[in-house]
Amino acid sequence: MLSNRSILVTGGSSGIGRDLVRRYVAHGAKVMTVARREAELLKTIEGLDRQQVFVVPADLGSAKGRHVVATEAMRLAPIDVVVHAAGALGPKAPLGSYPEDAWHEVLHMNLTSLHLLHQELVPLLSPTATIIGLASSVGRKGRRGWGAYAVSKAALDGWLEVLADEWDGKVYSVNPGGTATPMRAEAMPEEDPTTIPTPADISPIFLRLAAQHVSEDSGAKLNARDFIGTDPWAPVAKDHDSQVG
Ligand SMILES: NC(=O)c1ccc[n+]([C@@H]2O[C@H](COP(=O)([O-])OP(=O)(O)OC[C@H]3O[C@@H](n4cnc5c(N)ncnc54)[C@H](OP(=O)(O)O)[C@@H]3O)[C@@H](O)[C@H]2O)c1
Repeated sequence: MLSNRSILVTGGSSGIGRDLVRRYVAHGAKVMTVARREAELLKTIEGLDRQQVFVVPADLGSAKGRHVVATEAMRLAPIDVVVHAAGALGPKAPLGSYPEDAWHEVLHMNLTSLHLLHQELVPLLSPTATIIGLASSVGRKGRRGWGAYAVSKAALDGWLEVLADEWDGKVYSVNPGGTATPMRAEAMPEEDPTTIPTPADISPIFLRLAAQHVSEDSGAKLNARDFIGTDPWAPVAKDHDSQVG
């Protein structure tokens, strides 16, 4: 269903991004993925057809890293889909004592770097490209202790709203909901990871949005959990769109 689709996935060395890279390739897409840890990126693409997938080790937090990504992404152009799955959690701490360095780092990674990467990619995007941001429940409704992470994800939703109004393609905010990944384990060490969905469980919406003909309106704020167990290729009623004010 995704043959002839060119897809860039950031954060492909772990968790949700890793699962999406494998899944997109399995459905026929050509995929490029980016993260800092080359060895983990290579694990992600182990056994996959190298004609269909390539990795770019780079730090998205640096201008140099983003430039490397944009240069390598020329091999993928015109890009049909960008999934911004890379993200930083930072410490869990109240705002009143949140460490300043971590504040800058998390906002820089989850918001500013993503924005600057988008700018680098614009010349390489198909005019109807789909841009997917990874939102969070604590960005949609702030929650104590989640600090810069929650604030950065709220700001990301704002960025996606502006982009949706400007961009001729499609723009989506997708909240995975608590998903068993290394980031989730760090955020919620007391939680039993077998009690929450896996990246594979939440993948249907990401497959669905990567296809060429998507019924969801651009600008929709979606919850991946609403699509667990659904057929990614089936037509779906639009009441899954949970726009927030
Ligand atoms: N899991 C959840 O419950 C959950 C819930 C809501 C939202 N989300 C969001 O979903 C996305 C994926 O999360 P996840 O749970 O899959 O996290 P994860 O397993 O920790 O993966 C995070 C990814 O981001 C990459 N990354 C971090 N900093 C980077 C940098 N400076 N440059 C390049 N890549 C960088 C990491 O790769 P390297 O370390 O190799 O660079 C890794 O591949 C994140 O945006 C997260 O906020 C997750």
